[in-house]
Amino acid sequence: MYQGKHVLVIVSGGIAAYKIPQFIRDLIKQGAEVQVIMTQAASAFVTAQTLAVVSRHPVYDEHYLHTNTTAISHLDLTIWADLVVVAPATANILAKMAAGIADDLATTALLATNKPIFVFPAMNDQMYAAAATQRNLAQLRADQVTVFEPENGFLAEGYAAKGRMPEPTTMVSLIMNAWQRQQTAAILAGKHVLVTAGGTREAIDPVRYIGNHSSGKMGWALAQAAYWAGATVTVISSVAGPQTFPAETVKVTSTADLQAAVDRLFSKTDLLLMAAAPADFRMSTPAANKIKKQADQAQLQLTLVKNPDILASLKPLRKKQVVVGFAAETQRLLANATTKLQQKQLDLIVANPVGRTDSGFDVDQNQGTLLFADGSQQVLPLMSKIAMAQTIITAITAKKLL
Ligand code: CTP
Repeated sequence: MYQGKHVLVIVSGGIAAYKIPQFIRDLIKQGAEVQVIMTQAASAFVTAQTLAVVSRHPVYDEHYLHTNTTAISHLDLTIWADLVVVAPATANILAKMAAGIADDLATTALLATNKPIFVFPAMNDQMYAAAATQRNLAQLRADQVTVFEPENGFLAEGYAAKGRMPEPTTMVSLIMNAWQRQQTAAILAGKHVLVTAGGTREAIDPVRYIGNHSSGKMGWALAQAAYWAGATVTVISSVAGPQTFPAETVKVTSTADLQAAVDRLFSKTDLLLMAAAPADFRMSTPAANKIKKQADQAQLQLTLVKNPDILASLKPLRKKQVVVGFAAETQRLLANATTKLQQKQLDLIVANPVGRTDSGFDVDQNQGTLLFADGSQQVLPLMSKIAMAQTIITAITAKKLL
C-alpha cells in the first residue's frame, strides 16, 4: 500500500526517537520512499547519519540548513511528500504546530504543508495529561491532523503509564489505516458491515475438535477493506485479527456460536460478508471426558450430525441486506459456486479455488471469480488478500447493491 509513496518523517526530540530508524526501515520495506527532517533536540537521541543511512537520503537538520540552504527548502520537501509523519511528537512541537509557530525547518515544513499529517505524541505521562497538551491535541484534530494516542507501557522514566510511542510495525499499519480511510471513507459511509472469519471448531471431547484449514485471513482483510471504505465494522471470528483498525469483534468457536452471533447482528447489518468456514457437521454428543484409546482398538467411529446452513437460514430474515458468500472448492469451481449462489439466494458469491499452495487457505494471496446474482462475472487474478478484499468491496459498490 505504501508502494511508491513519499513519506516525510519529522523527528522531534524525545527518547522514542531511537525507534525511528526501525520505523523508516519498515516503511521502506513496504515500498515507501522516506526523507527525514529532524529538530535540533532530536539529535540528542538519534544521529542524522543513522537516519540518512536507513532512509538513503540526506537528512535535513539545522546543520544541513546552515551549510547548504539552496539545494532544497522546506517547501520542496512538502511538495515531494504524499504524507507527513511527526514521530515522536514532543509536547513542544505539538504546541508549536497548534499555534502555527514556524521557528525551525521542521515546524516551517509543518506549517507550509497541505499534505495529510499524522502525529505520534510520545512523552512523559504527566506532560501528556497536562491541560495545555490536551488543548493543543484537540486543536490539531480540529485542524484535520491525525493524532494517534500514545500507548500504555513502560516509559523511559522507569514506570508504566500512558505516553509510549507504538512499535514501528504498528505505526506503519496505523498510518496506513487512517490514510486509506481518509481517502475512501465515502464509499461505505454510514453502512454497517458484518464480516465472519475463520474456521469453526466442533468439540469431539474436551481436548479434541473437528476443524478446517481456514485461517481467517480473507475475512480479516475484508473487515479492513470495509473499514477503509468508511463502514462501521463488526467481525465474528474464531481467530484474532490485527488490532490495527477499530472493529467490534465477537469471538466464536463452533458453528452454533457463529449462527447465534450472525442471527443477533443481522438485523442492523447492511452488508454481510460471510467468509467464515463453518464446520458442516458436529458430534451428535461430544464426549464429556477425554476419549481414551484401548490397547486392542484399531478404529474409532464418531457419529456426526449436520449443522444448519447459516446463510440459507437467513433467507426469511432478509430485508435490505446485501449478502455475500464464499465458495471454497477443490473441483468444479464455477458450477459448484453457481449452485451455492442460487441455493443460498446470495447477491454475490466469491468462487475460491482451495487446496493449492499459492492461494486460498492460510496464505496471504488469493484468487477467484465473482459471480453475481444477475449472472455477471468478474475474474480476480492472483493478488494479496487485502487487494482482493478491496476489489470485492469496489465491485459491490460499483453494482450499486447497497
Ligand atoms: N456456510 C454457512 N453455513 C454453513 C456452511 C457454510 O453459512 N453451515 C457459508 C460459508 O460461510 C460460505 C458459503 O456458505 O460463505 C459456502 O460455504 P462452503 O463451505 O464453500 O459450502 P457449503 O455450503 O458448506 O457446501 P460444501 O461444504 O458441500 O461445499
